[in-house]
Amino acid sequence: MPTITVSSFKGGTAKTSTSLNLGAALAKFHQQKVLLIDFDAQANLTTGLGYDPDAHDSLASVFQGKKKIGEVILPTSHPRLSLIPADTWLERVEVTEALAADRYSHERLRELLKPLIKNYDTILIDTPPSLCWLTESALIASEYALVAATPEFYSVKGLQRLSQFMDSISERHALTVLGVILSFWNPRGKSNTAFLNVIEETFPGKILKCKVRRDISVSEASIFGKPIFDTAPASRAAEDYTSLAKEFLKRLRTKGTKACRK
Ligand SMILES: Nc1ncnc2c1ncn2[C@@H]1O[C@H](COP(=O)(O)OP(=O)(O)O)[C@@H](O)[C@H]1O
Ligand SMILES: [Mg+2]
Repeated sequence: MPTITVSSFKGGTAKTSTSLNLGAALAKFHQQKVLLIDFDAQANLTTGLGYDPDAHDSLASVFQGKKKIGEVILPTSHPRLSLIPADTWLERVEVTEALAADRYSHERLRELLKPLIKNYDTILIDTPPSLCWLTESALIASEYALVAATPEFYSVKGLQRLSQFMDSISERHALTVLGVILSFWNPRGKSNTAFLNVIEETFPGKILKCKVRRDISVSEASIFGKPIFDTAPASRAAEDYTSLAKEFLKRLRTKGTKACRK
């Protein structure tokens, strides 16, 4: 059903961890069928789910007509959670023969995903830390965007640029920012209010109430190649991602109702 891109203009804002653990929470606690798409050549989501990116075809093979999209979907440790992996071929895939001559290459992902939409309750796309062809294609393929941010000066500054980028896309495609997710949260951080105020100015009303606190269990889970619910179910990050999934679904329901009324 809805396709959602997780993005930011910066690395290390927990885009990949959010895609993975939010997706896992939706599959595990809300009985959703979830497809995670790793759309970053760094392939951290792919390794985070225990796969070797060099051993599997990514969407790059699909863009080049070598594989059908159904052939690159992999299972994960959870039966309702699937993954389309990434590999280094995704980097600059847009300049390869199959795409370079296509003026509308940004629309290709959206077209590729169309037949899959009916098979899943949620499709989450993890993107690179730049506003490149991959990120633009992912946003064009999505109805909603989740913005990943950390309570740091550079993260918050990057949001303004991301917001302009999303605005330019939403002039051509219906794209709604569903929420801003803050990770590495320190509930006692001295500058919290200042950071929240700047984010609020850039994305009014979008900051999600649930924040993901800093917790070493998040990086430990990726070493095991599993969602945090498998490796540290009692951790505070597992607790935070569980609450986040509930708030995410609530937001989506409200948006859905609004969209129907139109
Ligand atoms: N809440 C958190 N607490 C501690 N470490 C985290 C948290 N979220 C993510 N990390 C770790 O921080 C690093 C960057 O996170 P990642 O999700 O890869 O960010 P991005 O995809 O935005 O670059 C990874 O090593 C990840 O395991
Ligand atoms: Mg990442």
